[in-house]
Amino acid sequence: PGADAMLLLNDFEEWAEKVLSGTAWNYYKSAADREITAQENLDAFRRYTFRPRILRNVTEGSMNTEFVGMKSAIPVFISPAAMAKLGHPLGEVNLTKGAGQCGIVQGISINASCSLDEIMSARKAGQQVMFQIYLNKDRSASVALLEKVTKLGASAIIFTVDTAWRSKRTRDVRAKAQVAPPPSSDGQQKSKTPLGVSQAISGYQDTNLTWGDIDFIRKHTNLPIIVKGIQSMEDAELCAKAGVQGIILSNHGGRQCDYAPAPIDLLYEMRCNRPDLFQKLDVMMDGGIRSGADVVKALALGAKAVGLGRTFLYANGTHGEEGVVRVCQILAEEITNTMRNIGATSVADLKPEMVGPAGPWVG
Ligand code: FNR
Repeated sequence: PGADAMLLLNDFEEWAEKVLSGTAWNYYKSAADREITAQENLDAFRRYTFRPRILRNVTEGSMNTEFVGMKSAIPVFISPAAMAKLGHPLGEVNLTKGAGQCGIVQGISINASCSLDEIMSARKAGQQVMFQIYLNKDRSASVALLEKVTKLGASAIIFTVDTAWRSKRTRDVRAKAQVAPPPSSDGQQKSKTPLGVSQAISGYQDTNLTWGDIDFIRKHTNLPIIVKGIQSMEDAELCAKAGVQGIILSNHGGRQCDYAPAPIDLLYEMRCNRPDLFQKLDVMMDGGIRSGADVVKALALGAKAVGLGRTFLYANGTHGEEGVVRVCQILAEEITNTMRNIGATSVADLKPEMVGPAGPWVG
């Protein structure tokens, strides 16, 4: 069926399982160990329900927003995820063009399967993108890359910090696929034995990461820095102290530390215990977003925008650029419906008291 026949974001996942290669499906779907966190990321959203407000004129409205100085037509971004070509021959370029059509910001993975030049030249005039970096054991390669993306006109650097050590991505390891290393991540070697896609592409990553590396990045780019993979209030606070412009509460889609907490729960914890942090930096989240209602819950709790990883990879795999656009259409419709039905006509109208723990009121 065509992209128009997809009504829910989950429809893309269902189709992806049917039509993607085993290598792509197992790499995209896979998560750490027993996949407890990957499932928890989804389930946790069920523990929050809306407290809808009524009798407000909801005829007109918009869902434009801004995060870390970037404008977005809907409060959603493409989380950086590797190897889009495993799903579709045009790879990340489809994500770039789809994002351009829909006015959203794409996070480009350092492990993107298209070259940086291909991706950057697929943008339309004024289109904003973020570049995600893992630091290379050979820091001179990281410096060269930071300088290159800055020159090519990225709008922010995402520094992903939740992968300092490897993880066992069970399905991916079992599938034993072997792939060539992606173009922007130089300095790495293909592993001799096929141990899955993750192993094959991560050889260059440094395990020696410290808070000093934020200064290292800042020394080599003047772009705003967003730290991705924050999983505790303590580290969120340290990010604020380090003066970064944004954080993404994330557990890498459950692909790193099994039993890491669901990001929506961390966001709720931050809203309850550390509301001051929302004033100090822009807070985003990703992991488990599968509907517009999920987006609205996160926004009401204080997120400036939320990211989706697998959904865009699946949609690109099943329908290419058209699939990417369809994901945005579905999100736009669901976000609009949800916002209006809880009495909000703009992102600024979304307040923490519009979302609470599910279940009967305990006063
Ligand atoms: C990722 N993710 C990721 N993150 C990152 O910072 N750099 C990367 O290269 C990748 N690569 C990657 C590949 C694949 C196949 C997946 C599924 C994920 C993590 C990604 O940015 C994001 O945190 C999660 O995908 C969010 O969870 P959902 O939306 O997939 O539930």
